[in-house]
Amino acid sequence: MADIREKSNAVETSNAQIAVHWREEEYFYPSPKFIGQANLTDPAVTERFSEEHFPECFKEYADMLSWDQYWHTTLDTNDPPFWKWFVGGKLNACYNCVDRHLDEYKNKAALIFVPEPEREPVVSVTYQELYVRVNELAALLRDFAGLKTGDRVTIHMPMIPELPVTMLACARLGVIHSVVFGGFSGEACGRRIADSGSRILITADSYYRNGKLMDHKANAEIALEVAQQEGQAVDKVLVWKRHRGQYGSATPMVPGRDFFLDEELLKFSGELVEPVSMDAEAPLFLMYTSGSTGKPKGCQHRTGGYLAYVAGTSKYLQDIHPTDVYWCMADIGWITGHSYIVYGPLSLAATSVLYEGVPTFPDAGRVWRIAERLDVNIFHTSPTAIRMLRKSGPDEPKKYNYHFKHMTTVGEPIEPEVWRWYHDTVGKGEAVIVDTWWQTENGGFLCTTKPAIDPMKPGSAGPGAPGIYPTIFDEDNQEVTAGSGKAGNICIRNPWPGIMQTIWGDRDRFVEQYYRKYCKDPKSKDWHDWPYFAADGAVLAADGYLRILGRVDDVINVAGHRLGTKEIESACLTLPEIAEAAVVPVVDEIKGRVPEVYVSLAPGVKASPEIADKVTKTIETIIGKIARPKRVHIVPDMPKTRSGKLMRRVLAAISNNLSTGDITTLANPDVVESVREMVQGKGAVAVKDGPDDLKQFGGVD
Ligand code: WTA
Repeated sequence: MADIREKSNAVETSNAQIAVHWREEEYFYPSPKFIGQANLTDPAVTERFSEEHFPECFKEYADMLSWDQYWHTTLDTNDPPFWKWFVGGKLNACYNCVDRHLDEYKNKAALIFVPEPEREPVVSVTYQELYVRVNELAALLRDFAGLKTGDRVTIHMPMIPELPVTMLACARLGVIHSVVFGGFSGEACGRRIADSGSRILITADSYYRNGKLMDHKANAEIALEVAQQEGQAVDKVLVWKRHRGQYGSATPMVPGRDFFLDEELLKFSGELVEPVSMDAEAPLFLMYTSGSTGKPKGCQHRTGGYLAYVAGTSKYLQDIHPTDVYWCMADIGWITGHSYIVYGPLSLAATSVLYEGVPTFPDAGRVWRIAERLDVNIFHTSPTAIRMLRKSGPDEPKKYNYHFKHMTTVGEPIEPEVWRWYHDTVGKGEAVIVDTWWQTENGGFLCTTKPAIDPMKPGSAGPGAPGIYPTIFDEDNQEVTAGSGKAGNICIRNPWPGIMQTIWGDRDRFVEQYYRKYCKDPKSKDWHDWPYFAADGAVLAADGYLRILGRVDDVINVAGHRLGTKEIESACLTLPEIAEAAVVPVVDEIKGRVPEVYVSLAPGVKASPEIADKVTKTIETIIGKIARPKRVHIVPDMPKTRSGKLMRRVLAAISNNLSTGDITTLANPDVVESVREMVQGKGAVAVKDGPDDLKQFGGVD
């Protein structure tokens, strides 16, 4: 083991050879009270969803939906790895999330919106009201915006109830929505409009964040300009108002192009639109995410398989009943929000809470006040939010009278001590926790404990979800044995209904990115030959629980949000002053990881604080504030291999004060020393060890 450890610092060491040591954590068990009311308590579920019953086991999830026409083939593997699910089936996602609940639940809240200003009242939208609003908007989108089944529409909106209404109206028509996270810049939105070929942009005027009313409409102008430069014209911009009847943006409306939805909707009052019966394989939405190239990829999700998967996992793993008040603190602009604020909970007739703002404004008690007031009993958030709340108010939860039965954590590895605070203080020792590992590409949870059945282990995501068979491969295509303590690349051996269909407009990249690495035979039509490569490092313990270490590609997970280093680097290179740019992750106490930038300058350009500032501003404009670097280092040269590859791993080591390992094979080892001195100061002593994802970082260079 010691040998491998030593090697892990060497430049050539592959990701999968890194050995990891960590203390085994003790198990925690669900309470009898939780088990007594849980949806999934029968341990036979493991057998029902075992490989022997695959793929028919997923009928159990699909049967949670209402189908217009039942499918004839559960899984079609004729064109690997483009799997088809529930082939021949027809259904409508909006019908499943709204119409079918009216008989029993029309007066129940579907959505509860909590505005940031505490002086503004909470807004409840019943299933009946949701039905009316979605129908009116669907009529407008069809008759006024001219949208039809199969068209794409880009939605760049903050967290207001009109966002899920808009998504569901699209789904009703079979229009493919592409929601861009509201915090992304106008430019980032414009590139996504162009890639998806959207003619319509749906946006909002403003929203509250940290006590300020932000001008959101301003982004639309930039987005349209960028989309136009990339060859995509937008005909109409449809604008929701944060306060009905009151325009909250300083950006002018363009006559003939921009329309206020609250005004236009008056013309569609009371209109009903028949939900379009969609093929199970018809795309439901696109969700752009970062990968290892500069261009974000549009993950294309199907209607039937996706909806079945989020309904099944919401019911069994989040334990959602129609009587629960469920609050997922994510933003709907990320996959977590799509699957576990909108489609999963609403397909089960739950009450789903959405809130505006940030967890700690105006103070560290806000989250717990909301939980108390709405009597939330299922809570879903990220390690970053938990760390933030723990730091700013470790005793706050005790002051409020709320009781969670179930809590989720998602998006990043959670440190065991943070997990214990979540369990003991936030969960008051009563709530079960599921640590759910998955990705934008996956539709829903892949690894997690079954809350009433499996014990919890702090820091571990748990075993595969029902019907998911994870494994760990090393770089030599060998499966790593459970309990060996060796890390490797986590893969899923089988297809599942929630997996994306393809990358929008780029089939080759889909195959290349997720399936080429471990494909056993490219000609095979047998799914066993096509493991899905997730690009995360992980360790499999003897009990079958997976501990996720982090990305093995050029993605940085900032506060649970994915950013591509190549995207940030490309943004830097738009400045004529910059010759080369390298972006690396640095450890941050709250956000997990944040990007740090190294740049070298074009000939004749002198280093100055102004240039560093310009780099930061450019990144914010091109991507958004979430990508803001912690520091920008202007260096004389970049460490490179003899073949000219930029060694990001060496820079990551320097930024994190870790040992740079063996650098003698580099073309310019002396550069490393001068950069190190610049960043760490003279005489700084590097730490030998560090988090595993940093050791892996840049491994695919
Ligand atoms: C990371 C978010 C550890 C992982 C749903 C993955 C996690 C990336 C966990 C996907 C978890 C997600 N424990 N790491 N429970 N969940 N990740 O696409 O690196 O925004 O590849 O999807 O987040 O991020 P994405």
